[in-house]
Amino acid sequence: MATLVRAGPAHAAVLTALHDSAFDSAWKEDAFRTLLALPGVFALIVLDSSEQPAGLVMMRETVDEAEVLTLCTRPDRRRSGLARRLLREAFRSLDNSVTRCFVEVAEDNAAARALYESAGYRTVGVRAGYYETDRGRIDALVMVLEGANGNQLQIA
Ligand SMILES: CC(C)(COP(=O)(O)OP(=O)(O)OC[C@H]1O[C@@H](n2cnc3c(N)ncnc32)[C@H](O)[C@@H]1OP(=O)(O)O)[C@@H](O)C(=O)NCCC(=O)NCCS
Repeated sequence: MATLVRAGPAHAAVLTALHDSAFDSAWKEDAFRTLLALPGVFALIVLDSSEQPAGLVMMRETVDEAEVLTLCTRPDRRRSGLARRLLREAFRSLDNSVTRCFVEVAEDNAAARALYESAGYRTVGVRAGYYETDRGRIDALVMVLEGANGNQLQIA
């Protein structure tokens, strides 16, 4: 079973390295430190079987809503359930009052869309041309997971 670590400002370099391994435009260490200092923001790092950092999730929660700010796993550790594990643990860390969680996903990001859909997310909106990429402007899908009958969030 993979190990989860709650990340603090001291993990900024690890978070940046993981982000850099997964995204074209990685967040800088300062961005992680700044976000982690905001109220309601937390991050988890998953370690692989060799105890090496293999993925991260960063969340922001308010009173009754949460948002996935970023989520990624290392390319050489994909399709082994680590992203779903990160999401599941992140939801367990949310306050009981949180009953829905949003995420924005690039329309052409098939892996992320499949992950969120398999977790029970549904698309509720589109931000046209939200992401500027070297493939041109890409729409962002706004996806939401809602707890059944206003209950706490759980992954399908
Ligand atoms: C999206 C991402 C986080 C998935 O990470 P992962 O560790 O490979 O995901 P998991 O192994 O937990 O996959 C869980 C489920 O998601 C879906 N899924 C994940 N990757 C997929 C892919 N490439 N194609 C189709 N479905 C996929 C599947 O339903 C999968 O379940 P299964 O393996 O039993 O079929 C990873 O590909 C990544 O880091 N991508 C780059 C960063 C990114 O796009 N982040 C999301 C921003 S919103």
